Amino acid sequence: MRGNPPSVGYGFWKVEKDRAANLTVQAIEMGYRHLDCASDYGNEAEVGQGIERALSSRLCSREELWVTSKLWNTNHRAEHVLPALKRSLADLRLDYLDLYLIHFPIALKHVPESVRYPAGWFYDPGSVPPRMEYDPVPIRETWQAMEELMDLGLVKRIGVSNFNVALIRDLLVESHPYLVQSKLLRYCQQESIAMTAFSPLGAPSYIPLGMATTQDSVLENPVVIAIAQSHRKSPAQVVLKWGVQRGTSVIPKSSNPDRLRENLDLGGFLLTDEEMARMESLDRGQRFNDPGVFCEQAFNTFFPIYE
Ligand SMILES: NC(=O)c1ccc[n+]([C@@H]2O[C@H](COP(=O)([O-])OP(=O)(O)OC[C@H]3O[C@@H](n4cnc5c(N)ncnc54)[C@H](OP(=O)(O)O)[C@@H]3O)[C@@H](O)[C@H]2O)c1
Repeated sequence: MRGNPPSVGYGFWKVEKDRAANLTVQAIEMGYRHLDCASDYGNEAEVGQGIERALSSRLCSREELWVTSKLWNTNHRAEHVLPALKRSLADLRLDYLDLYLIHFPIALKHVPESVRYPAGWFYDPGSVPPRMEYDPVPIRETWQAMEELMDLGLVKRIGVSNFNVALIRDLLVESHPYLVQSKLLRYCQQESIAMTAFSPLGAPSYIPLGMATTQDSVLENPVVIAIAQSHRKSPAQVVLKWGVQRGTSVIPKSSNPDRLRENLDLGGFLLTDEEMARMESLDRGQRFNDPGVFCEQAFNTFFPIYE
């Protein structure tokens, strides 16, 4: 089954556990209908409480919501795929997902839930130094197990994240004006593959992690600021609008209700062709979420996936 997610979603990476339930309810109340979750974000149980509250208060119906989750790297072996999905469904308090993605093209040695959940990147965080432990699972094996989840009616669609071009139906990739990925988008459009842009605001998500600086922020770019001023919109709204107008979905994260509202409020203006082209020309090929860099820095393991 094909079908695109609602064009603006709420991304839950780094949304604080103790705020996630209330923010989920607030976001649904504001009109968000697309929630981007993952077992690795460590807050699915709290998001699930929020979804349950929103549904039982009839803020919307289950059918109106699009909920995505992601299979973590330690669960790529066929026998771990269904249990991993069942844990996400139980946490999210749902009986099906709209989309289930393979989170990364990185298979790591399995860590049972009873040992640690979510498992994270290290096999044994207590070893010195802790490292990632690769498990050579063919992607075909994982994909076939994901297809079985569709056959069971537990997920409506399956897809991949952080892949370039492979066995894909829906694709979640980093994309913002400093990493426009126009050939990838063109290919996806040619093949009717839905592309969702993560980190659609670029650097801000990575500044607190020490993976980017304020100079890297597209929200501070004079071209973006000038376009935003001419439409009386914020730089974030212009960057998100550019993402939506070029045909991707965007899933900005915020823990701030005012920003959540701002990020959803993209109606009432259109960027001109000339403004779209100016935004596109900001491309620097600058990838913030690159396992080839962060796995070595943060997890003592060199693990490139884009080279
Ligand atoms: N599949 C993957 O591997 C993968 C990787 C990365 C991300 N994702 C998904 O994509 C989602 C979004 O990506 P992201 O969280 O990396 O980055 P993002 O949504 O582009 O940016 C989030 C950052 O921008 C700030 N922000 C939000 N709205 C703003 C606004 N209107 N004006 C100024 N600043 C604003 C947020 O701070 P406040 O919270 O303080 O507002 C936060 O620091 C994630 O939450 C996750 O669901 C997936």
